[in-house]
Amino acid sequence: MCGIVGYIGKNNATNILIEGLKALEYRGYDSSGIAYNLNNEIKIIKSEGKVSNLEKKLEENIPSHIGIGHTRWATHGAPNEVNAHPHRLGITTLVHNGIIENYVELKKELEKEYHFNSETDTEVAAGLIDYLYHQEKDKLKALKKAMEIIKGSYALAIMFDDELDTIYAIRKDSPLILATKNNEQFLASDIAAILKYTNHYYLLEQGEIAKIDKNAITFYNNDLNIITKKEYVYEGTQTDIMKDGYDHFMLKEIHDEISVYQNIIKSYVPNLNIHELEEKFPNFTKYDEITIIGCGSAYHAGMAAKSLFEEYANIPVNVEMASEYRYKKIFPNPKELVILISQSGETADTLEALRKAKNSHMDTLGIINVLSSSIARESDNVIYCLAGCEIAVATTKAYLAQVLILNLITILISYQKKIITEEKANEYLSDLKKLINQTKDILNKEKDYEKIALSIYKQREMFFIGRNIDYALCMEASLKMKEISYIHSEAYPAGELKHGTISLIEDNTIVIGIVTKDDIASKTISNLKETKARGSKIILVTTDKLFKEYINDKFYEEAIIINEINPLLNSLVTMTPLQLLSYYVALHRGESIDKPRNLAKSVTVE
Ligand code: G6P
Repeated sequence: MCGIVGYIGKNNATNILIEGLKALEYRGYDSSGIAYNLNNEIKIIKSEGKVSNLEKKLEENIPSHIGIGHTRWATHGAPNEVNAHPHRLGITTLVHNGIIENYVELKKELEKEYHFNSETDTEVAAGLIDYLYHQEKDKLKALKKAMEIIKGSYALAIMFDDELDTIYAIRKDSPLILATKNNEQFLASDIAAILKYTNHYYLLEQGEIAKIDKNAITFYNNDLNIITKKEYVYEGTQTDIMKDGYDHFMLKEIHDEISVYQNIIKSYVPNLNIHELEEKFPNFTKYDEITIIGCGSAYHAGMAAKSLFEEYANIPVNVEMASEYRYKKIFPNPKELVILISQSGETADTLEALRKAKNSHMDTLGIINVLSSSIARESDNVIYCLAGCEIAVATTKAYLAQVLILNLITILISYQKKIITEEKANEYLSDLKKLINQTKDILNKEKDYEKIALSIYKQREMFFIGRNIDYALCMEASLKMKEISYIHSEAYPAGELKHGTISLIEDNTIVIGIVTKDDIASKTISNLKETKARGSKIILVTTDKLFKEYINDKFYEEAIIINEINPLLNSLVTMTPLQLLSYYVALHRGESIDKPRNLAKSVTVE
């Protein structure tokens, strides 16, 4: 999510802006930029990727005492330098959080006056405010008018060339706070950016305007009269802010899944049309084989994709653990695509696997969350997961972002190979709306999963069983359970259970059965019943449709029933309740959820 920081005062503005942007990094972003006043001239510096890239572009000790900064999380337009903020048109420079819904109409009108350089809605806001200022000849009046015209959400920090010692701010739906301390004034999208300096702040309300100069912050109401504002005090720490009110990052990140899906849709298929994917994703038509490589959950995302690619895109897929791929004999095929999946983009084994594939002259595609990370940079092509910053060691939203991207690739290949029609492809894409609604429903039912967790959290072992894609989901659900609760948990292909593992089933052993695939539902259900006959307690995870069709007797203790979307997207909605189940099991066991023992978020050693 985007972040804003602004500063006016006696100290070095660029240093304070960079510090503020770094404190906002946790929100997730893909580029950053600052604008500052240097000798009465506005300077804009922007950079793709991390704030440290921006910092490298800045000289030391720039004698500037006023500026605005931004971390951008791409919504309109690719995450590149041109689209990064600040944006400047005429004499107006600004940074923006939010989404301007009527930017297309506004842009059409403003194109008569301005030449736009970026694909963003933000540049349109700069044009509009500049235009209105030229008409009104008064900044407050122009900003008031802009608030009447702009539809959508925004927090804007604005500088004008003819008053470069002042910052103006307006907002609607996106938060913006202001603070003053020792004759220094601050502006930020959240307190994290300025907590180092002060924990006292003012909230800018909708319809209000803030004018900030080196002496004071002046607030105006909608009638442009000066008003006095209540001061708030923030008592928490930086970590509290980052958790957004949740007890753990893991829970916050599970709740972020909705906005992750929304961002993927907005960035890759805003109109839910297959041609948008054709344009934004690489061309897959030349490949007759795919190898997917990853570690941990990224490997499991690859396992889920294997079932989908093979069944719906008719292409054979090998899935390899990066640590194994590195040291095995490979048989390069010029028509093979190697896909590297990694949240961090820095996992040592995955990076070396990429290098090995490249040395063998195979095409490589990274599916990566962290922008400009090593794997993203070294892969021939990259598709970003756009999941934002993930802090809990146990991945949740980034795993699901990987699976969604792989789902989109499946639909694209299937369409490119003429297995499905354009109409069918678009039908799959329009189901993405259901994905968001179903995920919202699941998160609303969070307490139901806690109740199930309370019935199993004292167990010492668990088994997850399923077939085909359900087995891939079992692997991920089981990893989530064991890594944060320390309960010994195993994922097993349901049909393979009786070749050894079933000997471990005894009275009260928990068996979680995932049954989301129609053609194998009855088989997995039989396998679950086989464990029941040996004393297991069963948690059934299935879709409403399969439940109606296949479940005639109550052989299970608990059931998690998700609403069927389509065979591709079912894999996503099945995982969210299982992530919540693991979370609540670990919570009631009192474990260190966000930082499980012995584990690291990014494994950069072999
Ligand atoms: C670590 C993390 C896992 C993650 C794996 C791969 O083991 O604990 O959650 O799935 O690394 O990480 P990557 O950043 O490459 O996705």
